[in-house]
Amino acid sequence: MSFAHFVRRPSASSPTVCVVAGDDAAPEVMRPTVELLRSLAPDVQFSEAFCGREAQARYGNSFPAETRAAIDGADCTLFGASGGPSRPILWYLRWGKLTYVNIRPVRWYPGYASPMLHPERIDYVIVRDNLEGMYPPREGDVAELHTLASSGTWWQAAPTGNAGAYAVRVSTDEQLQRVALAACELALERQALGYPGRVTLGAKYSILPRTDGRFRDVVRATVREYPTLHYQEYLIDDLGRRMIAAPETLDVVVLSNEHGDILADVASGSIGGLGLSPSACYGERYAYFEPVHGSAPDLVGKGTINPTAMLLTGAMLLAYLGYNKQARTLQDALTQVYRKGQTLPHDQNGTAGTEAFVDVVRAEM
Ligand code: NAD
Ligand code: IPM
Ligand code: MN
Repeated sequence: MSFAHFVRRPSASSPTVCVVAGDDAAPEVMRPTVELLRSLAPDVQFSEAFCGREAQARYGNSFPAETRAAIDGADCTLFGASGGPSRPILWYLRWGKLTYVNIRPVRWYPGYASPMLHPERIDYVIVRDNLEGMYPPREGDVAELHTLASSGTWWQAAPTGNAGAYAVRVSTDEQLQRVALAACELALERQALGYPGRVTLGAKYSILPRTDGRFRDVVRATVREYPTLHYQEYLIDDLGRRMIAAPETLDVVVLSNEHGDILADVASGSIGGLGLSPSACYGERYAYFEPVHGSAPDLVGKGTINPTAMLLTGAMLLAYLGYNKQARTLQDALTQVYRKGQTLPHDQNGTAGTEAFVDVVRAEM
């Protein structure tokens, strides 16, 4: 899926991509994906850098300066997934490079093993705040809450005498505004393709008026600046229900960091699972691409992890670099392979291993 609001600025030199496979089973999908991307776009330079256990073994550090320099030196990064040991690289790719918005397309294609009765209704995009809200962790001891301004009423007062912890949720106007803007620009681009131009906010503005309420005010006001777009809002719990009961009413869905994290996995489940869901993280000066799924430690070494999410993530990367035709070729080949249904990965009720599946996609191209 291309998103013209975020494309690499044209330059005379050929594009460079830093490839970091990550932990556990992530390298098993990264290896064949990069091979395929190389054959699709031979002038793009892919160079490998390391994090997590692999970097620990090579450099004695799970996020070495060499990897940071490789990320900085490339136009963008293709990332597999972090298990525990490589989480610092994730912090760098998000908060170090200020990739402020996370785009997570949710679309069912014929052949995907959806548990839904009518999955053909599912075709929307989650736009997730990638920097604020509950992540990154800002946690502390409840005793510290007494040093913060009291919220006033007895039922909101910090507990006294009980051991415990708190987490802080942050919303800045700058971040809310640029996430809202990205959602509107995406809805506008989709509208030109025949989608309804509908921006849906999901948040808990009823209970959190200053953070989620502010989010609502900002998204509402931003959509108002786009005369052809429509706005709708639901409390986050109800939005979760609608994702299952009425997904056809959704087009572009704007969510906070933690809500987007959780509901992206739910949405993924509705189309057929985490093996199918790509994502891209964009900022003003950098972008990085990673599937929605994690490092799938339960699949390590089995050769069965589904590479579709990683391949579609690769297609989003190609589009970012301006290789729209190649992105389309990859997307269409995948769609065809699923439509035919002769070769399917294990999580899609098939028997094809990771490499065998990618070979069939390559042949389809
Ligand atoms: P997970 O996404 O790794 O796995 C959840 C379930 O989905 C597992 O049963 C797994 O086998 C399955 N699955 C995931 N990807 C699949 C694929 N491509 N094909 C087939 N099945 C697939 O989530 P988890 O188990 O909750 O977390 C494992 C680790 O990954 C944790 O350390 C977590 O922090 C990390 N994680 C990292 C990222 C990231 O780097 N962006 C995202 C999510 C989780
Ligand atoms: C994701 C992951 C990450 C997140 C974790 C690993 C920090 O779940 O990319 O969806 O919550 O953003
Ligand atoms: Mn997640």
